[in-house]
Amino acid sequence: MNDLFPEDTVSWQVQEQHFREILARYDVGEVRVPIVEHTELFARAIGDVTDIVQKEMYTFPDRNGESLTLRPEGTAGVVRALVEHGGLRGKTPRVYYMGPMFRHERPQKGRYRQFHQLGVEYLGMESAAADAEIIALSARLLKSASVSAELQINSLGTPASRARYREILLAYLRPLAEGLCADCQSRLERNPLRVLDCKVENCQKIAVGAPRLFDHLDPESERHFLQLRRLLDVLEIPYTVNPALVRGLDYYHRTVFEWVTAALGSQGTVLAGGRYDGLVAQLGGPDTPAIGFAVGMERLLALQALQNGQVPLPVPDLFMGAMDEESVAPLLQMAENLRNRGVSAITAGPTGFRALLRQAERSASRYQVLLGVSQLQGGTVLLKEQLGDRHWEGSWQDLPFGLAALGVDFPDA
Ligand code: HAM
Repeated sequence: MNDLFPEDTVSWQVQEQHFREILARYDVGEVRVPIVEHTELFARAIGDVTDIVQKEMYTFPDRNGESLTLRPEGTAGVVRALVEHGGLRGKTPRVYYMGPMFRHERPQKGRYRQFHQLGVEYLGMESAAADAEIIALSARLLKSASVSAELQINSLGTPASRARYREILLAYLRPLAEGLCADCQSRLERNPLRVLDCKVENCQKIAVGAPRLFDHLDPESERHFLQLRRLLDVLEIPYTVNPALVRGLDYYHRTVFEWVTAALGSQGTVLAGGRYDGLVAQLGGPDTPAIGFAVGMERLLALQALQNGQVPLPVPDLFMGAMDEESVAPLLQMAENLRNRGVSAITAGPTGFRALLRQAERSASRYQVLLGVSQLQGGTVLLKEQLGDRHWEGSWQDLPFGLAALGVDFPDA
């Protein structure tokens, strides 16, 4: 779990702002749901046999003895909320959420126990048009962070075609089970599809020769997938079909997709999602097709820093230092006055001249001004550029004019 300081959060805030602007263009509204839910919700939604539910949830009894879990992902809670508040009958909500998720995974670079997602969910739309639009939206979100990644897509078919395929896959894997890693051996019977995207070399070798789900799709899923591919071509969104893409959550039907990069090492999936047509009904709602995705914020921002450098902290316009007690009140007053007009100002003191100069330098503000009694009593103040030699001299009351003369903007003037 990470602690973030202003030099870290600056890139988060910039990115979140880009996201909100883009989401508004798609008419996607924000939902805020609790970060704890009943454990049963995740077991039902994500699937009892998944790694997330079996090994990674932060689960605890509350004071009433009910089993609660810190959300490992956002989709289940959002669907729960929409079902509970009747938000689905005859409606096609499109919603997004931002916030922390919790998974007790083995931590490594790009994999944390508390991480953050921006998630988007489109509900009530069955056509491949929704898949194409949501992928276009995901592409735009990544573009707004100026990162480049590769889009991979696959189709998992329907639960029925997947169940048929599961048997075909098991028949292939069982005789080869000894060559699989310990994890895959233990999940072979429970969740054989996971073997296909295991990162262990031997498992990958075995996976290469496996029959492909993709070749056992039902006709309707095949048609849906073809239509999606056609729409992505029209929208000029390049992709590769990755038949090994199976995802770690059980609720997916048909389309699944990931944006991946090799630049982040083993945790290279920046954004991932897919269609989950059965989930709403499974959680007690009306039969509602749905599709969504989530971006991992830590991974996105790590990739951004790698590809574009760190986002710099904003530079305050003015450092204002009081050299004695008497100057404190007028200095604070002037600072408030400037902030009213949209100027960013930081104040310091009262303290000695040298200490203020050091603080001014550290503040990295564009301009600095120091105030003492002698300047207040009719003398002039010196407004100085921190890194250059532009300056202005005048009375304290006229400081706003000095700032304007040196080119400081007054956005709210
Ligand atoms: P997910 O693939 O489990 O999908 O997670 C989505 C993204 O969250 C990942 O691609 C990754 O960027 C980030 N992520 C996941 N686990 C970690 C971690 N331990 N540390 C850092 N980042 C992580 C879901 O959560 C689905 N709910 C997405 C979705 C929404 N599908 C449909 N709607």
